[in-house]
This record gives sequence, C-alpha cells and structure tokens, in this order.
Amino acid sequence: MSQHLAFAQLVAQGPLSTIRVPTQKPGRGEIQIEMRAVGMNPGERMFLDSTWLEASRYPWIPGSDLAGVVSEIGDGVTKFKKGDRVVSMQMAASKVLGNRVGGLQKYAIAFASLTALIPTGVSFEEAATVSITATTSLAAFHALSLPWPTNSGRRELDEQVLVWGGGSGVGMTSIAFLRLAGYKNIITTAAIKREAELKSIGATVVIDHRDETVVEKLTDALHGNTLSKAIDAVTKEGTTESIAQVMKNGGKIARVSPLNPVTKGNEGIEMLGIDCTMFHDARQHPEYRALGEDVVWPFIQDLLDQGYPFQRQLVIDCSGPYGLKRIEEAFQILRTESTDGRKIIIKL
Ligand SMILES: NC(=O)c1ccc[n+]([C@@H]2O[C@H](COP(=O)([O-])OP(=O)(O)OC[C@H]3O[C@@H](n4cnc5c(N)ncnc54)[C@H](OP(=O)(O)O)[C@@H]3O)[C@@H](O)[C@H]2O)c1
Repeated sequence: MSQHLAFAQLVAQGPLSTIRVPTQKPGRGEIQIEMRAVGMNPGERMFLDSTWLEASRYPWIPGSDLAGVVSEIGDGVTKFKKGDRVVSMQMAASKVLGNRVGGLQKYAIAFASLTALIPTGVSFEEAATVSITATTSLAAFHALSLPWPTNSGRRELDEQVLVWGGGSGVGMTSIAFLRLAGYKNIITTAAIKREAELKSIGATVVIDHRDETVVEKLTDALHGNTLSKAIDAVTKEGTTESIAQVMKNGGKIARVSPLNPVTKGNEGIEMLGIDCTMFHDARQHPEYRALGEDVVWPFIQDLLDQGYPFQRQLVIDCSGPYGLKRIEEAFQILRTESTDGRKIIIKL
C-alpha cells in the first residue's frame, strides 16, 4: 500500500510530528481528497491539549474543515469526479472513522454526501472557512427550532434574537443565517471595532462584550420586549449567565460549548447543548444524518454558489519544509484567540 505524509499527535498533549501513513482507498459512498486547505477550530485545539481521546486513537491526525481536490472516487459516487474542487467536514476525533478522515495529511477520505463543490472563483482557503461554522450554527437553529435560513425568498420576522459572541466564526455565521432566515432584529455582543462588519452581515445592534454594563445595555436594546431565543456562540465563563440575566423564564439558549457549566441564573431557562457533528453521525443519529445530507449540505452548496460572505482568513502556509513548525505556530495562535475574527487556515 502506498503511503503519504501526515501531521499527527503521537500521544495525548504531546507535540505534533510528521509521520507516514497508508494511503486509504475510498469505500462505498466515499471520496478521497488531496488536501489543499484545512480550517482550524477551537475544538481541535481542545482535543490536542486534553486527554479526551482514548489512547488507542494515537497517532491522531486533526483537521475537520477540509478543502481539496478529488483524487479517487468510491463505488456508488456519481456526484463528483476526479479533479473536482471540493469542501467537506469530517469528524477527525471519531474513533469509528479513525485517521482516514483527518485533514492534516496529503490524502483524506470524506463522505460524498457531506461534501460540496467549490465554485470557480472561490479559493480553497475561503471554502475551508465554511463547514464547521455553518454546521454548528445550523445545529443551534435546530436546537432552538428557528426557521431555517434560505437563499431564496425571505420572510420578515420581528422577534428579537441574541447572538452572544458575534465576533466569533460561529457568531458571524449565526448572524448571517438569522438574516437569511428573515430575522431583522439581531442583537449581538462583540468587540466594538467589529460593529460595521457585523452590521454588514445582518446585526442590528452591536454591544461591546467587554463593557461592564453589557447586561443593562442588552436589556435596553430589547425595548421592553421578551428575549426568548439566544445563541451563545462562545460559551465561556459567564457568557450564558449574562444572557440568562437578560432573558425571562421560558427562554432558550443554544450553547456551543455545553461542557462548560452554567453556574447561576438557569432556573426556568432551557439550556441546549449543541454539537456540529450531529448531522454526520450515521450510527447514533440516522435521522439527523438524513437532515445533513438532504438539507444542510445542499444549503452549504447553495451558500458557496452564491458567494456567501466568507469569514476572513489568516492563511498559514504549511506546504513547505517548515510545515510542522508552522502548524505548531497556527495552533499557538488559535490558543490566544488573537485573529480578530479571521479563521486560521492551514495551507497544505
Ligand atoms: N459544539 C460544537 O460542535 C462546536 C463547533 C465549533 C465551534 N464550537 C465552539 O464555538 C466557539 C466559537 O468557535 P469559533 O471557531 O467561532 O471561534 P473563534 O472564531 O476563534 O472566536 C474567537 C472570538 O470570540 C470572541 N469572544 C471571545 N470571548 C468572548 C466573550 N466573552 N464574549 C463575546 N465574544 C467573545 C472574540 O471576538 P471579538 O473580536 O468580538 O472580541 C474572539 O475573536 C468555541 O467555543 C468553539 O469551541 C463548538
């Protein structure tokens, strides 16, 4: 079996190394992708820095936001051909899927049904910003039973909704999707320097999340209306608690990092933990997998075709001889959250 290079973590909490791994053939319904760009997400950094993965999962190849060129087609795949430029999302931490799907390697395997074509004029780096932020945001929409975003026709919904952390990738995507769903009163918290950018994608009120009076300002922004739905797009210390202070009983908060505990103010408010992999998990959630294949990925294809406002990127070229060092640098930047709203993209 031929082999190729991969960037892998050999033991929990250890550094990344360059290793050679067998090049896998795609199975039925799968494609093999020659990787060009991989989006980095906080979740991956958490897996790298923790002991969450079982010992048997090492060496572990991270990378779930994949963009590249189709290099092999599995049986039954008619949607793609060799040479197509595609974007996909895979569960790099999955025990079942293993290292065949991790993005930080030359060739990875992806489910064809959870993959979209990158249109002409959209770069691999732009495309690699989309999958995880879109699926996370849509998981929040699903949890909150929000009307689904659509590129065709637009409702006008007066109800106010809150996105805490509109400056994050998930937050920005949620704002854009709420607007596509028809919401016209979208309140968000973000660094105030991001105000114009967030208003350009649909936010109507932007309040500085570092402002000590943020809760009072949010309450004022509601003009006496009840806030019943919110997406906590960062879910850090105190963020859900602050939303709960603004929200009345009966409200619902979708939380992107459900493992972070809510320490107070959650009486009468429904806390909904979300997981972007829900649309991909065929074994545990076959009904959600169908939603992923029939609704989520066609919608992502539509977004790409319409030139959706891609998150700005911080591209780190790891294709050369210093690739490993540069990937370590990328993870270090991810740890500091200092990208000013840009998504870190590893160019391979
Ligand atoms: N559950 C899932 O399946 C899933 C999937 C993907 C991501 N996530 C989680 O979603 C979160 C966002 O991920 P991401 O990739 O979108 O992150 P990101 O783009 O790296 O977000 C970083 C930004 O968050 C904002 N922020 C930081 N602390 C904040 C606070 N206390 N209040 C408001 N905004 C704050 C800052 O924006 P400013 O410039 O405005 O300060 C910062 O630039 C992470 O916690 C991640 O783990 C969960």
